[in-house]
Amino acid sequence: MASQNEGLHAVLSEEEQAGQAYFDKIIAEDSRIEPRDWMPESYRKTLVRQIGQHAHSEIIGMQPEANWITRAPSLKRKAILMAKVQDEAGHGLYLYSAAETLGTPRDKMTEDLIAGKARYSSIFNYPTVTWADMGAIGWMVDGAAICNQVPLCRASYGPYGRAMVRICKEESFHQRQGFEILLELANGTPEQRAMAQDAVNRWYAPSLMMFGPPDEDSPNSKQSMAWNIKRFSNDELRSRFVGMLVEQVKVLGLELPDDQISYNEDTKQWEHGPLDWEEFKDVLKGKGPCNAQRMERRRAAHEDGAWVREAAAAYADKQAQKAEVA
Ligand code: 3HC
Repeated sequence: MASQNEGLHAVLSEEEQAGQAYFDKIIAEDSRIEPRDWMPESYRKTLVRQIGQHAHSEIIGMQPEANWITRAPSLKRKAILMAKVQDEAGHGLYLYSAAETLGTPRDKMTEDLIAGKARYSSIFNYPTVTWADMGAIGWMVDGAAICNQVPLCRASYGPYGRAMVRICKEESFHQRQGFEILLELANGTPEQRAMAQDAVNRWYAPSLMMFGPPDEDSPNSKQSMAWNIKRFSNDELRSRFVGMLVEQVKVLGLELPDDQISYNEDTKQWEHGPLDWEEFKDVLKGKGPCNAQRMERRRAAHEDGAWVREAAAAYADKQAQKAEVA
C-alpha cells in the first residue's frame, strides 16, 4: 500500500521511515496503533483534536441536562437523570485519558477549552426549555451520538476505540431513557403531547448538524477515513441517523419537522430537507443561543474546583515521598 504520508519519506530519518512503514502496514491491515508505536505527527494531532473535542463535548454536555435535575417530575426521573449526567462526566474522563496517551495532558486540553481555543459539539449550545427536552436529547442527541460513535469503536487508535466501546454501551441506555420519556409524554395529556412534539421540532435540525458539515465542506474527513479513524463520512452517518428516526418516530406517534425525508433507492441513502448551515457556522463561532452561558459555567466550575486539584496534587506528592522513603 502507498504510504499515508506520501512525499514525506524524503525528509524522514531511517528510524522514522521504519516507523512510517510499520504505521502504513498496521493501517492497511486495519489493525491498531498503540501509544508506544511510531505515528505521523499529523495522525497524533488529528486524534488529539478529535478526542479532545469529544471529551469537552461530554463535559459541557452535562450542563443542558443538569438544568433539569432539580425539576425532574419524580424521584425516579431525578435519579435516572443524575445517573445519566454522571455518565457523561465519566465519558469525558475516559476520553481525556485516551488523549493523554498521545502526550497531551488533560490540564492542557482543559486550559484550551477554558481559553476558548478548543471546540465542543454545537448541539450543547441550545437551551433546554421544558422537561420534554430531556426526552428529545436522550432520543435524538444520544441517538446521533450512537450513530456517530459505534463506528469509532473500530478507530485505528487503540485507546480511543476501547474507550468508545464502553461509552457506546452507556449511550444506548441514555437513548432508551430519552425515548421512554417522550413515549410517556406522547401518550399523556394533549399538553404533554404538544410539549413532546415541540421538543422534537426544536432538536431535530441541531441533532442532524451534530454530524458535522456536508462532506464537500469537511476538510478533515478524507484523511481521517484514510487513517481508519472515521469509518463513514459526515453525510453517510447523517443519512443513517435520519433512517433510524423515521422508523422510531412512528412508535412515538409524533412527527419529524421535515416533509422532505425520502429514501433514495439509487444511492441507498436517506435524504432530508435543507439544514441551515449558516446557523451551524454561527454556533461554531460562539454565537449560538447558549455558548456564552456554557463557557461561563465551565470556567466558574474550573475555578471552584481549584482546591480539589490542589488537594489531589498534594496527596499525590505525599504518596510519592512515602514511596521514596520505603
Ligand atoms: N460541533 C462543533 N464543531 C464541529 C461539529 C459539531 N457538531 N462538526 C464538525 N465540527 C468542526 C470540526 O471539529 C472541524 O473543526 P476543526 O478542524 O477546527 O477541528 C470543522 O468543524 C470541520 O469539520 P470536519 O467534518 O472536517 O471535522 P471532523 O472530521 O473532525 O468530523 C465529527 C467532525 C464528526 C464531529 C468528528 O470529529 C467526530 O466524529 N468526533 C467524535 C464524536 C464527537 O465529538 N461527538 C460530539 C458529540 S458529544 C456526544 O456525543 C455526547 C453524548 O453524550 C451526547
